Amino acid sequence: MDAQLDGRTVVVTGAASGIGRACALAFAAEGAHVGVVDVREDAARETVALVEAAGGRAHATRADVTRSGEVEAAVAAAVRATGRLDAMVNNAGLVFNAPITETTDEQWRRVVDVNLTGVWLGCKHAIAAMLARGEGGAIVNVASVAGLVAAFSGQPAYIAAKGGVVQLTKALAIDHALDGIRVNCVCPGVVDTPMIDDAIASWPEDPAERAAAKQAIHGVQPIGRMSLAADVASTIVYLCSPLARDVTGAILPVDGGLVAR
Ligand code: NAI
Repeated sequence: MDAQLDGRTVVVTGAASGIGRACALAFAAEGAHVGVVDVREDAARETVALVEAAGGRAHATRADVTRSGEVEAAVAAAVRATGRLDAMVNNAGLVFNAPITETTDEQWRRVVDVNLTGVWLGCKHAIAAMLARGEGGAIVNVASVAGLVAAFSGQPAYIAAKGGVVQLTKALAIDHALDGIRVNCVCPGVVDTPMIDDAIASWPEDPAERAAAKQAIHGVQPIGRMSLAADVASTIVYLCSPLARDVTGAILPVDGGLVAR
C-alpha cells in the first residue's frame, strides 16, 4: 500500500510490544516518523532500534497513559521533534480476567484507567495538538471485539472499558469532523502477541491439555487461526492515511470474522 505517510508524524502508545510495535514498524515503513510511547522505556527503545534497523525514523518516550501530564508530554515531544502531529494510535491496554465478585475495586479502577482513561487522555492531548496546528489529523483507538460483544466470559471489567472506547470514538468523530480530525476504532479478535502469551502462561502444565488449549485458541476466529499483530497494524495504517479520508467514526473489527457469527 502507498499510504502517503512520507514525512508525517505518528504517535503510538503501547508501542513496546505486540500490536503497538507492529504499528511502529508499519508506519515507519510508509515513511512516517514514529513516536514510540510506552510505560516500559527499555522495551520502547528496542522498538526504536528495530525501526531504525529497518531504515525508518522513530524516537522513544516513556509515559504511563493513565497520567495526563505524561501523555501530554509524549505528544509534545513528538511535535517538538518533527514540528507536527498527523496521527495518534491509542493502543496501550491490558487484559483482565475475573468475574465481578472476584474483582477488587482497585482492579476495576486499574482496568478502566489503562484501557479507557488512557485512550481518553491520548485523544485529548492529540486533538489539542492537532487543533493548535489547524491541519486536521487522524486518530485510531484500539478497542477489541470485547467492545462490541461479550465474546468471552469472565471479563466484565475489560469488556466494559473496551465498550467505552467504542462509544468515545464515535463521540469524538462527530465533535471533530469539521476540524478535519478523523477518529476511528479497530476491534481486534485474537492476536498472537505477548498479551496472549501471558494468558498461555496460566494454562495447564500438562502438555496434552496445553496443546488442546492452544488449538482451541486458534479456532476462536472463523478463519481458523489467530491474527498477527501486523494484520492489525496494516489496518491502522490505512485508517491513518489519506486513503481513508472519508472514513471517520468507523468501528472496524479485525477479527477473522469473529463478530460476524
Ligand atoms: P501487549 O501486552 O503485547 O502490549 C501492550 C503494551 O501496552 C505493552 O508494551 C505495555 O507495556 C503497554 N502498556 C500497558 N499499560 C500501559 C500504560 N499504563 N501506559 C503505557 N503503556 C502501557 O498487548 P497487545 O496484544 O499488543 O495489545 C494491544 C492492544 O490491543 C490492547 O489495547 C489490547 O487490549 C488490544 N487487544 C489485543 C488483543 C489480543 O488478542 N492480543 C485482542 C483485542 C484487543
